Amino acid sequence: MSQKSPKLFIPGPVDVAPEILEAITQPMIGHRSPEFSELYKDVTDGIRRLLKTDQSVYLSSSSATGLWEAAVKNVDPKRTLCCVNGAFSSRWHRTVVDNGYEADAIEAEWGKAIKPEMVEDALNAKEYDLITVVHNETSTGVASPLQEISDVIKKFPDMIFAVDAVSSMMGMEINIDGWGIDICLASVQKCWALPPGFSICTVSDNVLARSEKASNKGYYFDFIEWDKSNQKNQTVVTPSIPHMYGLQAQIKRIEAEGLKQRIKRYAELALQTRDWAAQRGQSMFSQEGFHSDTVSCMANDQGWDLSKLSDQLFQKGYRFSNGYGKLKGSAFRIPHMGETTEESLSKYLREIDSLT
Ligand SMILES: Cc1ncc(COP(=O)(O)O)c(C=O)c1O
Repeated sequence: MSQKSPKLFIPGPVDVAPEILEAITQPMIGHRSPEFSELYKDVTDGIRRLLKTDQSVYLSSSSATGLWEAAVKNVDPKRTLCCVNGAFSSRWHRTVVDNGYEADAIEAEWGKAIKPEMVEDALNAKEYDLITVVHNETSTGVASPLQEISDVIKKFPDMIFAVDAVSSMMGMEINIDGWGIDICLASVQKCWALPPGFSICTVSDNVLARSEKASNKGYYFDFIEWDKSNQKNQTVVTPSIPHMYGLQAQIKRIEAEGLKQRIKRYAELALQTRDWAAQRGQSMFSQEGFHSDTVSCMANDQGWDLSKLSDQLFQKGYRFSNGYGKLKGSAFRIPHMGETTEESLSKYLREIDSLT
């Protein structure tokens, strides 16, 4: 592997399979043509099949951050409760506030999970009509117990439940309809293993009803416009057709592997990573019982020089993931999402061993 294209051991973007790279370079088609509508239907039906949901699936030629904004603008909440336990959940809270909406954050320390009791106490203390939860905090390697949180949210029937599944969709179990999730959003450069810059969301009828009445939601992310186009197997604006080609091919690959098997593969790789870390005296930064299955975050108890390690791994053809933001130097991450296999992970871990 040349140094110009190191193997990506960062939690997104991840390496893209050659078949997918080939698929995304197919000749362009017009976005108002019958062949486009066929592609659109194939992709959205495939996503719905994989997610086992009856909700509408929308495609956004933006990264997932755009869908954070879309979620709040279409719901037009009176007051939002944001569950914050790391960098991305904190940024979603900021996004809500920056868009001019009233919001409170319930915070768990970085490395800890959002617990159902915290959510229940907060929802009982004040009136909210939107709650945002990041399922898998990529910054800390923590997976919050989404099903248990959903059991609490079900006690508040008018609540819109918005979930960021950016680093868990196609990598961990999510039961959108069963858990009453109203908006489930993800970008595609993580477990979907596609190039970055595109995102997917499912949207419930409750959200569409709220969007009908929402003021100041703008045009680009208006779900009512999206829904009208969706019914014609089209998008409102010119979409990233290469990403749709990539999705079409990736849906086939995921179905060939089986989503259950894919999720199991990541869980096994997570166990392998945690065992490896334990044997080297590196404890988990993430709280016991809430370790992510798609990205492991280790506390750097051994005091490895992570910047030096990163440089050395780069020389060997790998892009290493230091701790995120304030965790740089004191924690590091090993992703096991996308196309990672037991073989590729073992090889990477052996490289780290040879340098530490
Ligand atoms: C959990 C989570 N949410 C949101 C984002 C932002 O996604 P994007 O950069 O695709 O907008 C990321 C990016 O890494 C993430 O990990």
